Amino acid sequence: MKKRIAILGSTGSIGTQTLEVISQNPDHFEVEVLTANNNISLLIDQARKFQPNVVVISNSCHYDQLAEALKNEPIKVYAGREALQQVVEMDTIDLVVTAMVGYSGLIPTCNAIKAGKHIALANKETMVVAGEIINQLAIEHKVNIYPVDSEHSAIFQCLVGEFNNEVEKIYLTASGGPFRGFSLEQLANVTKADALKHPNWDMGAKITIDSASMMNKGFEVIEAKWLFGLKPEQIDVVVHPQSIIHSLVQFRDGSMKAQMGLPDMKLPIQYALNFPDRLPSTFKRFSFLDYPKLTFEQPNTKNFRNLALAFEALNLGGNMPCILNAANEVVVQAFLNDKISFLQMPEIIEQAMEQATYLKNPNLEDYVQSDKEVRIKTSALVKSRTKQKI
Ligand SMILES: NC(=O)c1ccc[n+]([C@@H]2O[C@H](COP(=O)([O-])OP(=O)(O)OC[C@H]3O[C@@H](n4cnc5c(N)ncnc54)[C@H](OP(=O)(O)O)[C@@H]3O)[C@@H](O)[C@H]2O)c1
Repeated sequence: MKKRIAILGSTGSIGTQTLEVISQNPDHFEVEVLTANNNISLLIDQARKFQPNVVVISNSCHYDQLAEALKNEPIKVYAGREALQQVVEMDTIDLVVTAMVGYSGLIPTCNAIKAGKHIALANKETMVVAGEIINQLAIEHKVNIYPVDSEHSAIFQCLVGEFNNEVEKIYLTASGGPFRGFSLEQLANVTKADALKHPNWDMGAKITIDSASMMNKGFEVIEAKWLFGLKPEQIDVVVHPQSIIHSLVQFRDGSMKAQMGLPDMKLPIQYALNFPDRLPSTFKRFSFLDYPKLTFEQPNTKNFRNLALAFEALNLGGNMPCILNAANEVVVQAFLNDKISFLQMPEIIEQAMEQATYLKNPNLEDYVQSDKEVRIKTSALVKSRTKQKI
């Protein structure tokens, strides 16, 4: 039986790579649902090629155009946020790939889990915002969450076969991004174009900025806590500029296992889609001779303050990671819109964390409210900086 896949965010970097994996393995997978936010032309092409049962465009303005383009295809077309939140409940779906960006993934992921769908989780922000609730739902509905993030896939692959062997700690590797080694003076002058040039990975704009600011690594630390049931002190970050070792696990006897390979997101995607079996692939193979040196460094949390803020949020718990995420989404958008500078991002996030209402034991509705509150407050903080500039 082929596995029937829903891809939330099929037009993005993870979404398109998931479709490549599916194309290369037509005997194993078929596409049941495709969704996008605005990129209607790519969604139409994907729908014609993969013939899903349903497509959803989140931004309803595009409905007429999408429906018209697909009117001769046996494909149902829906629009709007609610449609996206409901489509994951379809009986015919076996696995949902959450490849949307940001907080927008939270409710669809919760609904998919409640409907008993296994999840291939790329949308790390969902785990950052509400990891505890996601885990509870997954247990309650007997759902597996397969990590897609390369670091978490690496940890997952290292843990396979270890059953109850105790993990002492994990090391998440970080490339260090385009500004590795930069002084604060240099960081003060970096531009959006500089930040969008990641040395090793080709990703969507938001995660590329998060990688440059090291917020991405902070989010991954929080994601790892929930995916692998770890305490904050069991999670370490090491900068590894070549991005060959994707992460490591250290067991209680001191033995360490690493997962490595050339950076290519299709590998963790394929592993998540077909766990526990590894499918053959033609992905480029690693050659030791091309990489005679693999190097490691301590992350600089003084210059890349976001990583320290993420650890702070993790230690405080409650809704603080949700606050961190909402503030980050607002400042990243402001940076991409040339409203604030690179170094103003962590500065504003820190202020937002100080000003937001802290809740020790939030429920899902509290997270929704927190997200709203923090977006309003952070937008005001961004505005005050923009005025200062004028
Ligand atoms: N890219 C990577 O290599 C990578 C690696 C690890 C983890 N991740 C995680 O995977 C997720 C996706 O990243 P990405 O790089 O693939 O992002 P991306 O290229 O920006 O794609 C995002 C996708 O989500 C859709 N989308 C955006 N906002 C939406 C909204 N409000 N409602 C519904 N759909 C929306 C987009 O639709 P439109 O195209 O129509 O805008 C697009 O299909 C992120 O959480 C990221 O952290 C990515």
